[in-house]
Amino acid sequence: MKATIAVLPGDGIGPEVMQTALNLLDTIGAKCGHEFSYQEALIGGIAIDQTGDPLPASTIQTCEGADAILLAAVGGPQWSDPTAKVRPEQGLLKLRQHFGLFANLRPVKTYPALFEHVPLRAELLEGVDLLIVRELTGGLYFGKRQEQDQGADAYDTMYYSVPEVERAAHVAFRAAQKRRNKVTSVDKANVLASMRLWRRVVTQVHEDYSDVALDHVLVDACAMHLLTRPASFDVLVMENMFGDILSDEASVLAGSLGMLPSASLGNGTFGLYEPVHGSAPDIAGQGKANPIGMFLSVAMMLRYSFALETEALMIENAIDSALKAGARTADITSRGSSFISTSEFSATVKAAL
Ligand code: IPM
Ligand code: MN
Repeated sequence: MKATIAVLPGDGIGPEVMQTALNLLDTIGAKCGHEFSYQEALIGGIAIDQTGDPLPASTIQTCEGADAILLAAVGGPQWSDPTAKVRPEQGLLKLRQHFGLFANLRPVKTYPALFEHVPLRAELLEGVDLLIVRELTGGLYFGKRQEQDQGADAYDTMYYSVPEVERAAHVAFRAAQKRRNKVTSVDKANVLASMRLWRRVVTQVHEDYSDVALDHVLVDACAMHLLTRPASFDVLVMENMFGDILSDEASVLAGSLGMLPSASLGNGTFGLYEPVHGSAPDIAGQGKANPIGMFLSVAMMLRYSFALETEALMIENAIDSALKAGARTADITSRGSSFISTSEFSATVKAAL
């Protein structure tokens, strides 16, 4: 097949993990007879520096002309003054909103090869394979807001309409049907009105999915259960910021935040694929970045936007075998053990394809 991919490296470790990802994609293309062409564009801090805008119109245009977007990371200390008018993160939020990418899929699984490195007992990590469905274009991130320069005080609002919750719930139930038929809806219905609506709507949508079991759990309890019984979860569906927070927590189970991929989807096959990790400015340019989250995001792109399941599995299996063979980046190395650089690790994965 032929596909055009909008490539948005962004800030910090973004460019280095993106480079290894495109290299991996070229290898897959050559092996399997696909032609991937790349259109690079600016986003985030680097876009602010060069154009004054974290999401320039030219970037939107490039993305509109592509079959999928691959993004690495945005942000950094030089752009994080809390009084600044433009911030790198606004670029990413606008991009998600512009393309109506309301469902963010964040799969988390554990790797026996890394159990030793995870600060939880191995018996708890056995068989962990969960999927966080994070609602991505509503909730606290997109509700009515007042900035500190617009009044004496400032606020954000958690807002949901019925259709917004419905479509997120459908994504979760359909995903569960392809997995282990279980959905956990995460909310804060004991306190928040928007979350009582969330619980009611998810319960209603569930009526269409009699083959899927549904339970409701409060977000604070869920944060605990993710550490005490992570293997009991299949699909979790939740509000935007809850998903942001719990996915970082869940990344500890996998071994590192650097391991998690994500897919942001709307109604069609178009999607935005990005690792869950940020720009990690403290290690940028040192060859210490873990490219796994980016590689797995490429695999999700192949699977969801291009229907290339075999090729997606090739990447996932190659990562498994690299880890089994002992290849480690700095973030997944236990104290005192040796690690290899981003590009050496990438070469190991490529060789295992
Ligand atoms: C994420 C990130 C983003 C978010 C930031 C960079 C806007 O933390 O994708 O998890 O909060 O959604
Ligand atoms: Mn986050």
